[in-house]
This record gives sequence, C-alpha cells and structure tokens, in this order.
Amino acid sequence: MVLSEKGARFELLEPDTQTKLLLSVSPCKNDTVKILVDELRPLKARYRVPDVMTGEPQCEQLRVVRQSQHSITLSWSSGCHQVCVWHFPFRLEILCEEEVVVTFNSKGKLWFETLQDPPRVTPPGRELEEDDTSFLWKETFRQFEDVKANCPSSIGSDFCLHGFSHVFGLPEHADSLQLKDTRDGEPYRLYNLDVFAYELHSRLGLYGSVPLLVAHKPERTLGLFWLNASETFVNVYYRPSDHQNDQTPRVKRRRTQPQTDVRWLSESGVIDCTVLLGPTPQQLFSQYAQLTGYQALPPLFSLGYHQCRWNYDDEADVKAVDAGFDHHDIPYDVIWLDIEHTEGKRYFTWDSALFPDPAGLQRHLEKKRRKLVVISDPHIKVDPDWLLYCEARDGGHFVKNREGQIYRGSCWPGESSYLDFSSPDTRAWYSRCFGLEKYKGSTPSLFVWNDMNEPSVFDGPEKTMPKDAVHYGGLAHREVHNLYGFHQHMATFEGLITRSGGSQRPFVLSRSFFAGSQRFGAVWTGDNAASWDYLKISIPMLLSLSVAGIAFCGADVGGFVQDPEPELLIRWYQAAALQPFFRGHSAKMTKRREPWLFGEEVTAAIRSVIEERYCLLPYWYTLFHHSHTCGLPPLRPLWVEFPREQNTFSVDNQYMIGRALLACPVTEPKVKEIQVLLPGSAEVWFDIHSAEGFKGGRTLSLPVTMDTVPVFQRGGSVVCRSTGSGSCTADVQWMPLSITVALNSQGAADGELYLDDGHSFSYRDRKAFCLRRFNMLSGRLLCRPASEEGTYECETVVQSVSILGLKSKPSSVVVHVSGAGDTRAAFQYTESCSTLTVNDLDLRVTTDWDIQIG
Ligand code: GLC
Repeated sequence: MVLSEKGARFELLEPDTQTKLLLSVSPCKNDTVKILVDELRPLKARYRVPDVMTGEPQCEQLRVVRQSQHSITLSWSSGCHQVCVWHFPFRLEILCEEEVVVTFNSKGKLWFETLQDPPRVTPPGRELEEDDTSFLWKETFRQFEDVKANCPSSIGSDFCLHGFSHVFGLPEHADSLQLKDTRDGEPYRLYNLDVFAYELHSRLGLYGSVPLLVAHKPERTLGLFWLNASETFVNVYYRPSDHQNDQTPRVKRRRTQPQTDVRWLSESGVIDCTVLLGPTPQQLFSQYAQLTGYQALPPLFSLGYHQCRWNYDDEADVKAVDAGFDHHDIPYDVIWLDIEHTEGKRYFTWDSALFPDPAGLQRHLEKKRRKLVVISDPHIKVDPDWLLYCEARDGGHFVKNREGQIYRGSCWPGESSYLDFSSPDTRAWYSRCFGLEKYKGSTPSLFVWNDMNEPSVFDGPEKTMPKDAVHYGGLAHREVHNLYGFHQHMATFEGLITRSGGSQRPFVLSRSFFAGSQRFGAVWTGDNAASWDYLKISIPMLLSLSVAGIAFCGADVGGFVQDPEPELLIRWYQAAALQPFFRGHSAKMTKRREPWLFGEEVTAAIRSVIEERYCLLPYWYTLFHHSHTCGLPPLRPLWVEFPREQNTFSVDNQYMIGRALLACPVTEPKVKEIQVLLPGSAEVWFDIHSAEGFKGGRTLSLPVTMDTVPVFQRGGSVVCRSTGSGSCTADVQWMPLSITVALNSQGAADGELYLDDGHSFSYRDRKAFCLRRFNMLSGRLLCRPASEEGTYECETVVQSVSILGLKSKPSSVVVHVSGAGDTRAAFQYTESCSTLTVNDLDLRVTTDWDIQIG
C-alpha cells in the first residue's frame, strides 16, 4: 500500500488469471469516498469519462489506524469515517462511527477484462486453434456486426449496502421510484435508446442514463455514483436479513439487519465509483451536486407553460395558437416548432414557404414577451449542396464508421451523418452555429430543443449508432454512447450563452442526458402515450430524475401519441402544473389539442391549473434557486422530507414540492375519493384550497371532483405566491405577492423568497438578487434578509398575508416597517378554518418589516 495526498493505493492480484489491478481509494472533504480500479499496466490507457465531474473534490490526508496480517484500516480528519481493506479475499469496507455502511466487493464479484493484443487468427479451413480468441473480438446482433477494436474490456463489481432496504435512482426507466429486486427479472439497463411509446414497468434503457443509485434508511442516505458511459447493467438484490458469515467480529453489526446488494457491470472503461455518505438526504444532494454540478438556474419564462406540437404548420398557425391563449385568457410563455419548420429537416434553416419571416414571427411573440423554441437534432442531412453539411464534413465534425469513413445512418432527413459531440472542436463549431449572424432568422428570443440525441439512428442496431463507430481521438462509440446527448446539450447551452455575449441564461431541452446534464437545462421523458398508465408513471419517472440531480424535468402533457379523452387531459394538466417542466406536446398523427378545443368546461379546468401554476411561480423560482445553490431538487420523494418515516419510503404517487407543499395528483379515471398519506404524527397539514387543517401521521380519504387537485401545505412553512397570473411570466414578475403562513403545532413557520431579473447572469456576476426570509414565531411575522449578499432592488410588494392554523381570533394586527412607525391593520378571521387574513398591505419585499398578531 502507498499513501499519498491523493489517497491510498493498493495492488490487487487475481491468482487464477494473474490479473494485476491498481486500486486507489480517495476520501474527500465533502464526505465522499472515491474508489478507482484500473489495470496496473494496461496495454493502452483505458477510457475515463470526461466533462461530467465539475472538479475533483479535495482529498483528505489518510492515516493508518490499525493493521494486521488480514487487513488495514485507514482514517481521515475527525476519524469518524474509516476505510478497511481486507487482503484475502479482497474487500473494502467503509465505516461510519465504527459501523460498516458499505462494502465494495462484498460478494467477490469484482470483474475486470484486461486489454489484450490482437488475437492469433486460425487460418481459414483449419479447426479453431486453442489460443484463437478472435471470436471474442466480434459480435453479431441480427444483421449487425460489432467489431471490438480493443477486445472485450468489461468491468464490474458488487456493493453491499448494510441496513438498507430501499434504493432509488438510476433513471431513466418507466418504472417505480423504488428500484425493484432484479432476482427474477431483467437488471436495470443504462443504455440510451429511442423507444417510441415505451413499455411501462420495464428496466430496459430509455433516452438517458444517470448511474447514481441512492439508498435510504432512517438514519442515513447514501449514494453510489458509478461513472461510466458505456452500456451498463445494475442488479439489485434486497436481503431482509443478514445472510453473511460475520467475518468481522470487531465491528458492531446486528446479524438481523437487512442489506441490499448492488451489482454493476459496464461494457468498458475503468471502475470509477464514488460513495456519497450523506448522512442526510440534503447532504447527499449537495455532495452529488459538488461532483457533477448544480441545476442551471432556469430563465423564469421556462418555468411557465409551454405549448408544443409536431407541428405548428406555418406562421399563421403559430400566430393563431398564440392569439388563442390571449382570447381564452390562458397564460403561457413559449410556443414550439418541431422538425417540419425546416427546409427538408436541415436544422438551422426555415421552410421558406411556411416560415417566410421567422425573425418577424419571433418579434411578434416577443412583443407579448413570449418566446419561440425550435428543434435542433444531432443528425445532419447528407447534402453536399448545403453549406452547413459541407462545413461539418470538411471540419471533421462527423462520427466515422469502423472503416474510417464518415458514418451514415437514417433519421428524419433520410440519409444523415452525426455530429461528433465528444470532440471539443465539434462542440465549439456547433455552438457557433447558434450565433445570431450565422443562424439566419434567429433572434435572442429563440431557444432550443435537442431531440433524437441518444443518438437515434432508424437503421442502426437497437435504433442507435453501432458501438464500433469511431469518435474523436479514435474512441469507439461503445465508450461514449451514454454521453452523446449530454455533449450535444452542453454545446447548445454554450452556444446560446455565447450568442448573448455571456449575459443571458439559455434554455435548452434535451431528450437524452447523463449525470451532470442538469448544468445545461431541462429534460423530458420522451414519447409517452395518452393513457392513464402513462400519466401515473410520469410521477415516479420525474422523481427518479430529481433524485439523480436532473431537477428540471417533465413529461409531455396529454401524452405524445394517441388522443386523450378530456378527463385524462384535465388530470394531466393538473399533475403537470405541479411538476418542474410543464409542456403540452403531441405527435403529428394526433388530433389538435390546444386547451380550448374541448368545450368551455375543459378550457376552464385547464385555465385554472395553469393560472395556479403562474401564481405559484415565486415559490418554484425560489426552489430552483435552492437547487442551483444547494443541489436540492424542487420535486422530492416524501422520504426526502420525512427521512425517518418508513411508511413514506416507497410512496411514488405523491411527492413534495420543496419542503412546504405535498401534492397527490389524481391519476385515475372517474375517481370520487382518493387516499392521501399525510406524513409525520407531529405535523399539521392544510388543504391549500379550503385551508382546512389535518393532523399528520395518517392517511386521509379525500373526496374529489374534477376540479380537485390535492395539495397540502405543511405546518411550519411559508409559501409566496403572486396575486395574479397575467398572460405570461413577465407579468407575474412584478405582481404583488400574497404570503401564506402555515403554523406548526408550536405556532411557528418559516420560508424563503428568491428574486432576480429572471433572465440574465447578473444574479451571479453582480449579485443582483434578493433572498428574503419570512419567519413567524410567538405571534410575530418577520421579513428579513436571508442573505446579506444580494444587491437586487425591486418594487415588488407583499399585498396580503394569510396565517393558517391560528387558534383564536386576535384582538389586533400591527404592522411595523423598519424606519417608519407602527400601523394597525384591518384583518379578517375565519373561525371555521382558523385562518387570519390581512389584505391591502403594501410592504416592499426588500425592506424589513414585522407583523405582530396581538
Ligand atoms: C421524437 C420526439 C418528439 C418529436 C418527434 C419529431 O419522437 O420525442 O417529441 O415531436 O421526434 O421531432
């Protein structure tokens, strides 16, 4: 063993095969431990995933605390964490407070195929010679042949998670939030694929992959981040009790504690796994964000409602749909153009007959402070008469086939070549394509949608690129497959920033993603269908994405394929208005679906939830600020907020929006009543519509009508809303606020509000933001800075305050504004729901003030 400032290094020897590996263990300052295993002397460097980690955390200085013939124990800083390496059989334990929480190679499944020299090939006509392993270097799948230039080089390992019986994460799958035991089924597959109307409750790979598995038990949340972008399989085995022979008598381990075994297997690369030790869910999210980056702060408009369709036919159609929103008084922010807006699916062009004046169209929308999003896919039509194609070809920006020619596959435009986003040069070139000068017909109010970037290749194996296609630096596609969409998203994001001279926040939606994609914008769950089951599965799918750091996520409202019945459409809008990315979208063959096409009742129901979404934007924006600065996702499984309440661990039909709101959307037809779990026996919950209070620690049977959207505010929280919804987010930005204070059983509550200009980077570059805290204690509500740093001055005022759960009618309400005197305020008290309301206030949110309830 060698100790250095980078951690500890061990040489591992597999006696049967004489394989020699190098193990490095590096504990880091943020309570993470990185485990890296590579060949001791590989024939050539094995691939390591670039661009995902935003910076290696600082390594801790290790010291030896115990050593015997069998093992060595190392510790660092305070000594509460330790790593114990057992020599034979090899395994590595991570201990917290002397208790083993995770064991690497616990079941001896460490697997490492070493790189080999090209094999001896048996001459034709002879019987296969013993040392001829050439058959391993080639694989056939249907009509496809996959030639492995590096020979098989898979890697894998197992981890035992002690005391854990719930694991989550590993998006993207159309399955439950809690990962299932894979003993009697398929492993979870991480391999980005274009799967139209995907199967539900399946562990097959979908559009994106995040190799983060999160385990939770009452005392600890723990993460395993397996940094590998090749095809990966993960098996999960829950074990209700400890079956292992206890070989570590020194260590306290209850024999009956449950455990979960997790086995990873990847097609290539090295073992690069970071264990995130939590122990709280909040710390885990922060640790993960420190490794892979924080959610980009979305421009405010992108948190509004988006209207998309494949396709809005022409300029007149776009203008008519836009006017339809005004005519029906429904707020919205963005209208989208799918592939048909281009000249023959040549991205960065416009069909000149259908869209003769795209810049004029954008100006038309911009006058109403609305935006246009257009699609830009990674496949480029093979067309030697098209300048952009020639530039990409001549600049060496396309992926090659194994023979070294430009790879061609079929996609929307027909024969296409695929940009090689793994190359920094290609990314820089692609970013420049978004320049306003270069992208004719674009203006600063045009934003971008990256689709088909798994990549989708209609005539490729599994509808994607062959694994032996060749990328920048001679890399086989198999090494970088799951990074393809991530890199396109990155290049688009950078292109939009550069386009604005670095001043404006971009908005980019991507279908494919990887760990770290949160830094570039939003993702959605692809081609779902208009059925109740797809509505239902959208919740666990979005929760899994959120747990894995991809916080700005959504599902196509109404279902992409097929036509939803009006009831399903309404329920879908109700659910999606309470999810981060909110976009209605539908396929070409479906009927038109703008919210006003189903009669006044349906229009009214949809209008009402979109309006509520707009009113709640100050809260959503504040949650995104937290996500951007702390890594906490806005959408949270219940266990994130109630880590000790075991009955919340598997719940995935309801969720928390931040720490204050609990949502339980109706996802079944013809429902008259639903069951809502209100966690925490010490908690109080308030129905946000009726203000009725309910004690927690129970399942509530709630009668529902078509208008009911079950949302509860948690006692102890403060939620800021806008007093109106306007016609788009720009209206909401300056509107007066109403504040809802929900008291807990001690009569206390607090919450925050984040404000900035909503679109630029001034919040970051000039600290032009404002973060306020509302705190209620002993009958006094205080508005104070939550951060002294912000310099953003705005006129926004608080117009009304409601206090829920106030047991008795007060005799007076006195408002005290810093630097001014006290004034008595008029108020209403509603005894039936113990609510105090103070209206007609005019309190600037940036000044300090108090409201004293007497
Ligand atoms: C893919 C996308 C879908 C889009 C269509 C046409 O199926 O997932 O959203 O409308 O391609 O571009």
